[in-house]
Amino acid sequence: MITVRGGKPLRGELTVQSAKNSVLPVLAATVISGDACVIEHCPRLEDVDASAAILRHLGCDVRWQGDDLLVDSSTMSRWDIPDDMMRRMRSSVIFLGAIISRCGQARLSYPGGCELGPRPIDLHLSALRTLGAQIDEQGACLDCRQGAAMRGAEIVLSLPSVGATENAMLAACTARGTTVISNAAREPEIVDLQRFLRKIGAEVRGAGSSTVIVEGRRKFHGCRHRCIGDRIAAATYLSCAAATGGEVMVRGVDYRHLSTVTMALQQAGCQIHSGEQGIYLRAPAVLQGICPIRTAPYPGFPTDAQAVVMASLLRAKGSTMFVENMFQSRYRHVAQLLRLGADIRLEGRVAVVCGVEKLRGGTVYCTDLRGGAALAVAALQTEEETQIRQIRHIQRGYEDFSGTLRHLGAQIQEIGV
Ligand code: UD1
Repeated sequence: MITVRGGKPLRGELTVQSAKNSVLPVLAATVISGDACVIEHCPRLEDVDASAAILRHLGCDVRWQGDDLLVDSSTMSRWDIPDDMMRRMRSSVIFLGAIISRCGQARLSYPGGCELGPRPIDLHLSALRTLGAQIDEQGACLDCRQGAAMRGAEIVLSLPSVGATENAMLAACTARGTTVISNAAREPEIVDLQRFLRKIGAEVRGAGSSTVIVEGRRKFHGCRHRCIGDRIAAATYLSCAAATGGEVMVRGVDYRHLSTVTMALQQAGCQIHSGEQGIYLRAPAVLQGICPIRTAPYPGFPTDAQAVVMASLLRAKGSTMFVENMFQSRYRHVAQLLRLGADIRLEGRVAVVCGVEKLRGGTVYCTDLRGGAALAVAALQTEEETQIRQIRHIQRGYEDFSGTLRHLGAQIQEIGV
C-alpha cells in the first residue's frame, strides 16, 4: 500500500516513462523479427514482467541490460501461452497476432483484465479469420491455425479497437499480399507499433489514419527501438499538479498526444505552455468546473485519463460532467473517491462531480490501474493521511509512481503489507 499526506503543491520537473500501451504490443511484435531486438528505456512495470514471462515461455531470450530490455526471438520454440500467463494482463491477447504471424499457429486462452467491464475480443478474432486463420474456441481455449497460408484481405473493424487493430497489423505482416484495415484505431501507440514494424522489415503504412495498409513479407530482422512517451502517465502527473495548486514541467511526451487533456486542465484554470521541450503547467489554488468531458477514441478525450482528471476536479468551484463512452464499468474509482469526501453523482455512463471545499483522509482500495492513480490525485489534496491499498494495480502501468511523486515534493511512502 502507499500512504499519502497531501495538502502541499507539487512542484518540479519530470521525464515520463515510455508508454505502457506502446511497449506491450512492441514486445509481442519482437516475436515476428526472429532476431535480437533492443527496447530502449523499457519501463519496469508489472505488465512488462508479464510480457517477458510469456516471451521466455515461448523460448525467447529476454534480458535486462541497464534500462534496455533485450529480446532475442531467434530461439523461439513454442506457440502456446498457458492460461495463468494469459490472465495476468489484457494485452496478452496481442501475442495472438504475433505468434500466428511467426509460427502459423497459436494456442492460448482468453486474456485477463475484466476490471473495466466486459472486454470481448470478437473483433480481434474476426480480423484474423478474415486473413484466413482458423480459430476453434473450445471453452476458454483458442486454437488458431492457418488453413492454407494466410492471405492479405480487407478487414473492416466495426469500431476502432486499439487491440484489434494491433492484432490485425501483426497477423498481416506475414500474410501473402496486401491487407487493408479500415476503421483502424488512430492512437499514437499504433503509429509507434508501425515504426517498430518498419524497423524489423515489415511494410506497413497509414497508421495514425483510419486506414492501415500492410504488405506481407517473409523476412525480418532485429532492431533498436525506443517507444514514445506515456501520454497517460503525463496526464496523471499534470493532474496531480493541477489538483494541488502546483507547478510542473513534464518532459518526454509529445504534447500533441494529450491536447484534449491539457485543454481540459486549461479550462479548469491552469496556465499551460506546450512545446517541443515538454508541457509546463501552473495551477491556481482552486480549480473551476469545466464543460462536459466525453471519452472517445483518439484524438478524443482518452478514457484512460478520465479518472485522474476527475480526481483533480474534486475541490473545483462548480461542477463537471463526465460521459464515459468507451467502457461499461469505468467508474469503479468513484465509490473510493466518495470515501475521501468527494461529491460525485453517478448514473450509467454519466458522472457529475460537484466541487467540495475539503477532502478527508481514509483507507481506499485501487480498483484498476488508472482508477488507482486517481486515488493518489485525490489524496494529495488533503493534509489528513490516506492509505491507498492494492497498489499492484498502479504498479502494472506506472514506473516508480510514489518515487516520482516524492520527487515533486509529495509526502508519500510505499509500504509492503
Ligand atoms: C486499449 C488500451 C487501454 C485503453 C483502450 C481504449 C492498450 C494495452 N490498452 O485497450 O488502456 O483504455 O485501448 O482507449 O493499448 N471491443 C469490442 N470487441 C473487441 C475489442 C474491443 O467490443 O474485440 C470494445 C471494448 O469492449 C471497448 C472498445 O471496443 O468498449 C474499445 O476497446 P479497445 O480499443 O479494443 O481497447 P483495448 O485495446 O482493450
